[in-house]
Amino acid sequence: MVKICCIGAGYVGGPTMAVIALKCPSIEVAVVDISVSRINAWNSDQLPIYEPGLDGVVKECRGRNLFFSTDVEKNVSEADIVFVSVNTPTKTQGLGAGKAADLTYWESAARMIADVSKSNKIVVEKSTVPILSNPEFLAEGTAISDLLSPDRVLIGGRETPEGQAAIKSLKDVYAQWVPEDRILTTNLWSAELSKLAANAFLAQRISSVNAMSALCEATGADVTQVSFAVGKDTRIGPKFLNASVGFGGSCFQKDILNLVYICECNGLPEVAEYWKQVIKINDYQKNRFVNRVVSSMFNTVSNKKIAILGFAFKKDTGDTRETPAIDVCKGLLGDKARLSIYDPQVTDDQIQRDLTMKKFDWDHPLHLQPTSPTTVKQVTVVWDAYEATKDAHGLCFLTEWDEFKTLDYKRIYDNMQKPAFVFDGRNVVNVDKLREIGFIVYSIGKPLDAWLKDMPAVA
Ligand code: UDX
Ligand code: UDX
Ligand code: ADP
Repeated sequence: MVKICCIGAGYVGGPTMAVIALKCPSIEVAVVDISVSRINAWNSDQLPIYEPGLDGVVKECRGRNLFFSTDVEKNVSEADIVFVSVNTPTKTQGLGAGKAADLTYWESAARMIADVSKSNKIVVEKSTVPILSNPEFLAEGTAISDLLSPDRVLIGGRETPEGQAAIKSLKDVYAQWVPEDRILTTNLWSAELSKLAANAFLAQRISSVNAMSALCEATGADVTQVSFAVGKDTRIGPKFLNASVGFGGSCFQKDILNLVYICECNGLPEVAEYWKQVIKINDYQKNRFVNRVVSSMFNTVSNKKIAILGFAFKKDTGDTRETPAIDVCKGLLGDKARLSIYDPQVTDDQIQRDLTMKKFDWDHPLHLQPTSPTTVKQVTVVWDAYEATKDAHGLCFLTEWDEFKTLDYKRIYDNMQKPAFVFDGRNVVNVDKLREIGFIVYSIGKPLDAWLKDMPAVA
C-alpha cells in the first residue's frame, strides 16, 4: 500500500489530498500541519475552508484512507510520497523584498523531511518554488471539480533515471482518474514557469479588460458588450474577461511578483516591467473605484455609512487573501467613511484582521499571523444585507455572490439615505432596474448616468 503525506493542510493541500483519497482507495493519505486549530477543524464537522463539494468528499474518506494530524514527523517518516504545500509568503525585507518568495517555511519542511527519513521518498512540491514539481491549477470555489477533471496535471522532474522514476510514480497516482493525455511531464523549470505563466496570463486578461473598462466609461461603451465581442474570437476565447474592481486571491499577485523577480535576477528588466504593469493596472482599478465612490457622493464620504456587500476575493469561498475589498475598504476608511460589511462566508474576526494587517502578513501559518491588537472602530460586520444597507448613503458590491442578484432592492432603497448610490464592482446588479427604483448606479465599465458624468472621478 502506497502512503502519501501532505505537509500543509491549507486551501491547496486539503482539497487536493481529499480528492486523491477519494479516487485512490488503495492509497493512505495523511495531511499534517503545525496549526493545531486547523487540524482540529479538518477533523470536525466545520471544515476550516469553505469549498463547494468538499464536505462530501471529506466525509466519505476521513477515517478510511484520509487522516488529518499534527504529528508531522511520524507521518512524514512513514510516507512513500511527501507533498509539500506550505506557505511561501512574499518577502518583506532583505534580498528581493516585496517580490521574492520567502522560503523559510519551505526550507524548514524540507530539512525536517531529510531528518526523519529512513527510507527513499519522493518529495513533491505544491507550493510555488523552484525534487518533483507538481504545480496546482485548482481555483477556489471550484476546487473539487477542478481536481476531479483537471485541464491538465503538470509534473516536472529531473532528467535523470531517478527523476524519471519519480515522475512515473506520481503519474501512476493521477492516472487513476485523469486521462493520460492530460498528464504532462516536463523538466523542473518548465513546470515552475508554466505555473507562473498561466497565472500571469490569466491576471493579464483581467487587467486588460479592466483597463478597457476605464476607457468604456470615458467613451460611453459598455465593457460587457466589448468583452463579449472580443471573446467571440476563438483565438481569444470568452473566459476570464469579466471586468471587476480588481483581481485578488493568494496566487495572482504573488506569482507575478515571483515572475518579475526571476526576470530581474536573469537580467531581463524589460520583461519584468511588462509583467509589473499587470499589477499596476490592478492597483489602479481599485483606486479608481474608491475615487468614483468619493467623487460621486459630493466629494466626501466623511462619517457617511457605506454598505459593503461581499468581502471574499470571489464568490463561493470564504477566502479573503489579497481580496480587492481590503484596499477598497481601506481607501474609504481613509476618507473617514463608516463601513457596514456583509459577506455570507467571512467572519467579523477575519475582516478586522484583514483591515489591520500589514501588506504580505496574510501569508504566514495561521498561528503565526498577528492577531489584530486593535479593531477598526468605523467598521461593523453584520450577517444580513438589509442590515448592512439600512440608513446607508451608498452601497458597494465587492464580491459577486449569487444571492446579491435576488435581493429586494426596493426594500433596500426605501431604507437608505437619499440620494441612494450603488457602486457595483462586479457587474452583479441589473443597472436599468435599479435606476428605475431610484438609485444612482455606477457599474464598472458601463455607460455612466448623467449624475456621474457631472462628477467625473479623478484617478
Ligand atoms: C487562480 C487560478 O485560476 C488557478 O488556476 C490557480 O491554481 C490559482 O490561482 P483562484 O485565485 O482561486 O485561482 O481564483 P480565480 O478564479 O482565478 O480568480 C482570481 C481573481 O480574479 C478573483 O478575485 C476573481 O474575482 C478575479 N476575476 C476572475 C476577475 O476579476 N475577472 C474574471 O474574468 C475572472
Ligand atoms: C490581424 C488579426 O488576426 C485580424 O483579426 C485583423 O482583422 C487584422 O490583424 P493579420 O495581421 O492579417 O490579422 O495576421 P495575424 O495572423 O493576426 O498575425 C499578425 C502577426 O502576428 C504576424 O506577423 C504573425 O506572424 C504574428 N503572430 C501570430 C505571432 O508572432 N505569434 C502567434 O502566435 C500568432
Ligand atoms: P495554500 O493556499 O497554499 O494551501 P495555506 O496558507 O492555506 O496555503 O496553507 C499552508 C499551510 O501550511 C498552513 O496551514 C500552515 O500552518 C502549514 N505549514 C506551514 N509551515 C509548516 C511546516 N513546517 N510544517 C507543517 N505545516 C506547515
